[in-house]
Amino acid sequence: MSQARVSDRVHVRAPGKVNVFFEVGEVQSDGYHDVASAYQAVSVYEDLWATPSDDFTIAVSGTVDVSGVPLDGRNLAVRAARLLAEEIGWDGGVHLEIRKAVPVAGGMGGGSADAAAALVACDVLWDAGLSSADLQRLAARLGADVPFAVLGGTAVGTGRGDQLSPALARGRFDWVLVTSTDGMSTPDVFDELDRQRAQDTVDIAPARRQPTVAPAVLHALRAGDAGMLAAAVRNDLQAATLGLRPELAELIDLGERSGALAGMVSGSGPTLAFLVADEESALDLQVTMSAAGFAALHVHGPVAGARIIPD
Ligand code: C5P
Repeated sequence: MSQARVSDRVHVRAPGKVNVFFEVGEVQSDGYHDVASAYQAVSVYEDLWATPSDDFTIAVSGTVDVSGVPLDGRNLAVRAARLLAEEIGWDGGVHLEIRKAVPVAGGMGGGSADAAAALVACDVLWDAGLSSADLQRLAARLGADVPFAVLGGTAVGTGRGDQLSPALARGRFDWVLVTSTDGMSTPDVFDELDRQRAQDTVDIAPARRQPTVAPAVLHALRAGDAGMLAAAVRNDLQAATLGLRPELAELIDLGERSGALAGMVSGSGPTLAFLVADEESALDLQVTMSAAGFAALHVHGPVAGARIIPD
């Protein structure tokens, strides 16, 4: 493909996510677990600007600690740009500038959002004209949560979590996110779950053949009923995350005693997601958590997936 310059700078914004339901099945031969996930994109965003360059380069800043983010070819956004270039035969590069607001290694899909944003931005910058289905297919090669960051909204993911179907969700759900400064590695948490299951620990749900999202979750999302959703949320990774970070269990209790309808580990953690009834309850919980010395963020969902922002 020629390197005719189509755009000079493309700005894309992509959301973080919470898993309102996450059932983990058996580990497959590729090392991934079969899962059933109900994702919701929430209003904390990664911003990415793509500009033409001969090489693939990246700069990262943010309102969260970005010291753990790789600035070379290991960065998922750089890998996304390279993958797209390879796919369309683009022989130039791109400079990516990322401003992060999603906690790094927090279980909220921040790296996946960066990769989704890079795909969408480079598609426009290089005038590739890929369909949304094409972008989703490339996204799935980068990580289990990347297709959802492209799609956004509320969706059910099966397989690795990357086979998506949009789910109907009415109205808005308010969440308070309690973040930790110390990130966690997703593979470590899955390994801990396998270890716990191998030991047949009490209270750990056994791996099921065919993970499925509980109908009560889909019903609550369709009804836009936070109370109903709170009664149905579940995350199979939670026991593993709490096994590695026992102090988080007290924090979930504190949130639930302080007005949250439900508190849970977000994805593989350590971010905690508290579902609340409305904006006012969110503010109350934020005040309580901040007073107890924890960083708390009020977000809402569902919001759109990776999209171009006209600057
Ligand atoms: O796809 P992603 O890079 O986000 O996954 C990170 C790691 O999490 C995988 O290498 C795997 O260890 C674990 N994982 C899993 N099953 C999934 C998704 C992720 O075991 N469905």
